[in-house]
Amino acid sequence: MANPSLLILPGDGIGPEVMAEVRRVIDWFGANRGLVIDVTEDLVGGAAYDAHGTPLHDDTMAKAQEVDAVLLGAVGGPKYDQLDFSVKPERGLLRLRKEMDLYSNLRPAQCFDALADFSSLKRDVVAGLDIVIVRELTSGIYFGEPRGIITEGNERVGINTQRYTESEIARVAKSAFELARRRGNKVCSMEKANVMESGILWRDVVTEVHAAEYSDVELSHMYADAGAMQLCRWPKQFDVIVTDNLFGDMLSDAAAMLTGSLGMLPSASLGAPMENGRPKAMYEPVHGSAPDIAGQGKANPIACILSFAMALRYSYDAGDEADRLESAVNDVLGDGVRTADLLGEDGVEPVSTTQMADAILAKLDATS
Ligand code: IPM
Ligand code: MG
Repeated sequence: MANPSLLILPGDGIGPEVMAEVRRVIDWFGANRGLVIDVTEDLVGGAAYDAHGTPLHDDTMAKAQEVDAVLLGAVGGPKYDQLDFSVKPERGLLRLRKEMDLYSNLRPAQCFDALADFSSLKRDVVAGLDIVIVRELTSGIYFGEPRGIITEGNERVGINTQRYTESEIARVAKSAFELARRRGNKVCSMEKANVMESGILWRDVVTEVHAAEYSDVELSHMYADAGAMQLCRWPKQFDVIVTDNLFGDMLSDAAAMLTGSLGMLPSASLGAPMENGRPKAMYEPVHGSAPDIAGQGKANPIACILSFAMALRYSYDAGDEADRLESAVNDVLGDGVRTADLLGEDGVEPVSTTQMADAILAKLDATS
């Protein structure tokens, strides 16, 4: 049988430097665990714009459709701020999500015990936290029409449209219920049914899907603003949160910070099953391109490494290997190894991006 395939898109800012470390981790699994993955690499975002004048070349899009999984670093940076909207680095990422139809975006927020003191919230609020935000990723206000900036009378008007079909809501709701069954069996759905028709429909459809197929899962509903408040007040009340594209964007950043650092959080964007039975998938760290620290070897590679762990679990049918990698990360943090984003304790010298990966690889070596 052919090796499983992976398309790596390092992108911009700290993307390339964290991805270089992930490649060492991927190689480790090939050399030590017989899990050889055929890796190809290509450009996305500003890097693709610099080379081709577009943030995602059609050839790259076509490759992404063929592989078993895509692993993306980060896109964007101040250099591209003035570009026309249609060729901004972010458009490359959004095109991948849309054309691969990656409607279910899993954003776990897990608080590693060794890092509970890094959160801006009190230790007992976040220690042991393990929740997942399931964000709808291919519709809603990110893609709704009409959109644009028009002129009305003597002023400009900015327009975006929140639009959801029943089937779009139902499929992401299903993926949240399925996920909950494998975890704490609880789903909280968040919208603004008090002010938005799309929110009323969202609540109705989630309720219907639940009654039809998932009544064994505990379901609750919350307005998204109250949800944001509850996430900060007592996040451990949640297991799986399902929400739309824009609320999910915001709530997942808030949830990320509960864990102490954005530099720690992976994500998986999943679509419909492919011929191999696995979902179409793209994995990416939740953090952005962090232009302020790019190229300095300071970035934390853990979010991207944990994104590869999610690929092991969801795309390569290697849950045991994902566990192995996640434990290695946990152990390294337990040893007090810290990149600069995780400082706070007295007298701890930060390690570089490469040294963090060295430490994780050493833990992996000790396991096999
Ligand atoms: C994210 C990011 C993206 C988004 C940007 C880079 C387009 O913030 O993945 O959360 O808004 O979806
Ligand atoms: Mg975001």
